[in-house]
Amino acid sequence: MGRYLITSALPYINGIKHLGNLAGSMLPADVHARFRRMQGHEVLFICATDEHGTPAELGALEAGLDVRSYCDQQHDLQRDVCARFGLSFDWFGRSSSRQNRELTQHFAERLEEAGLIEERTTPQVYSIDDRRFLPDRYVEGTCPRCGYESARGDQCDNCGALLDPVDLIRPRSKISGSGRLEVRDTTHLFLLQDRMAERIRAWVDAAQEWPPLARSIAYKWLDEGLQPRAITRDLDWGVPVTKNGRPRPGFEDKVFYVWFDAPIEYIAATAEWADATGAEWRRWWLMPEGGDDVTYVQFMGKDNVAFHTVSFPVTLFGSGEPWKLVDRLKALNWVTWYGGKFSTSERRGVFMDQALDLLPADYWRWRLMANAPENADSAFTWSDFQNGVNADLVNVLGNFVNRVVRFGEARFESVVPDGGTPGPLELSLFEELDSHLRALTEHHDAMEFRRAAAETRAIWAAGNQYLQRAAPWSAIGADAPAAACSLRTALNLACLGARVSAPFLPYTARTILDAFGVADRPLRWPTAAAAVLLDELPRGQPVAPLPLLFRRIEDTEIADWSARFGGEE
Ligand code: 2FM
Ligand code: ZN
Repeated sequence: MGRYLITSALPYINGIKHLGNLAGSMLPADVHARFRRMQGHEVLFICATDEHGTPAELGALEAGLDVRSYCDQQHDLQRDVCARFGLSFDWFGRSSSRQNRELTQHFAERLEEAGLIEERTTPQVYSIDDRRFLPDRYVEGTCPRCGYESARGDQCDNCGALLDPVDLIRPRSKISGSGRLEVRDTTHLFLLQDRMAERIRAWVDAAQEWPPLARSIAYKWLDEGLQPRAITRDLDWGVPVTKNGRPRPGFEDKVFYVWFDAPIEYIAATAEWADATGAEWRRWWLMPEGGDDVTYVQFMGKDNVAFHTVSFPVTLFGSGEPWKLVDRLKALNWVTWYGGKFSTSERRGVFMDQALDLLPADYWRWRLMANAPENADSAFTWSDFQNGVNADLVNVLGNFVNRVVRFGEARFESVVPDGGTPGPLELSLFEELDSHLRALTEHHDAMEFRRAAAETRAIWAAGNQYLQRAAPWSAIGADAPAAACSLRTALNLACLGARVSAPFLPYTARTILDAFGVADRPLRWPTAAAAVLLDELPRGQPVAPLPLLFRRIEDTEIADWSARFGGEE
């Protein structure tokens, strides 16, 4: 068995995430982590809140809290809602941790020793009344192109123009609203990425396991030419800049740029986990020469790809230390919300906590993954959600499992019956299932979530078809052993259907398997032949009554939710 290090892109700290964020990285990462654990691999699944930079500062400002308290509060909220969604992180860390501060400073010092860091002075907007430099996004004003009055210093949200803060007409500070701004010189550390370009290109050339989307984004950056990049900012909140372990002269009021320290938190969160559990984190990140047995898989939205395929690798390679680099990378597109984007700042869409107030996690997990934005953006609509849930979970999985259990209650005293032997119907079922299981395992291996979901559903559907054909309720009068064999096969099939659904539907799978007395924890991924798998439950074993697994989503609810969340058809 191998070792899998799995990370999901770190959600910004500024509030509970929407379903688009969830589907774009944390949820697919969780499905994959669950699959790899079921296969028996040693898995370490890491995530954390991304707590520095503009989103944290602006969020705190809006909430009227100091940044530290704001981050404490928001981290707890996110950790709680992630747990309730069944996201099975081994550790959900914080980029504001001591471990991340130490590692970020360590990397910067190593990069400097390698000659990859330079101090450079550049002009930047300074707010006299706020007594601070303003990052581009903190400057607001009128767009010189379209006249929109709330254009940001980096971009106009109205016409899309890419801007420089000095382009804005009547610029003002987003913090205080003050228009007393001026341009001053400021000095920052620049990471000389250009010097690492050949190294990164050779590595991307060799990264045959990346999907085309990730490779093309990496090549686009490389072809445009890697530029030196400022890795510090004039802010209070963040990782302080050091030299030889002491505050760096001239940098006392500066911190590292959030995109410099955030990916380092993948490593630091592992150290947080190790410190909390007594485990050893270096065996996941520092690799012996001549190869290692860790497969590192990263999940992220497409806007994060360049940071993971170019910028973070520059940090890792540039350090000259044997850090683990990503082996397999899954980049997802967007989930769209009624023609637009989900948006945290504009509160557009459905957020994770709101979703759980409406329905249990498995409903959302299923529909978001069966419709994962893999090859293109995918649209979330209420009617599509309703149809997907009702058609797959209610009509196929729920219906099948409930029928089987109820028939067993009515005619076999709720035990797995003995007697009868498999006939032609069962033999063809075994064949059909063997091919579904093979395909399903391949799709999970390839992290093709839509295909994996379709194949999972095909296994549930095979259950309903089998039950329909075997019709044990008709056979029972004339041929009781045949009816017993059919029910036994169907009970085992329900159990298998639950087992294979576990990466997507962890709560439902556990409910069904508990009722069937299946004890293996963690659950095993089915690898035997279907003929064996469909005779797994001991004969005579009791089957406990099941609660309703899924309820139908009604039109009236959809009308209500559309009105509440603004997603009108
Ligand atoms: O885009 C985002 O949501 C970032 N917070 C992702 C960071 S991923 C990693 F590099 F930390
Ligand atoms: Zn504009």
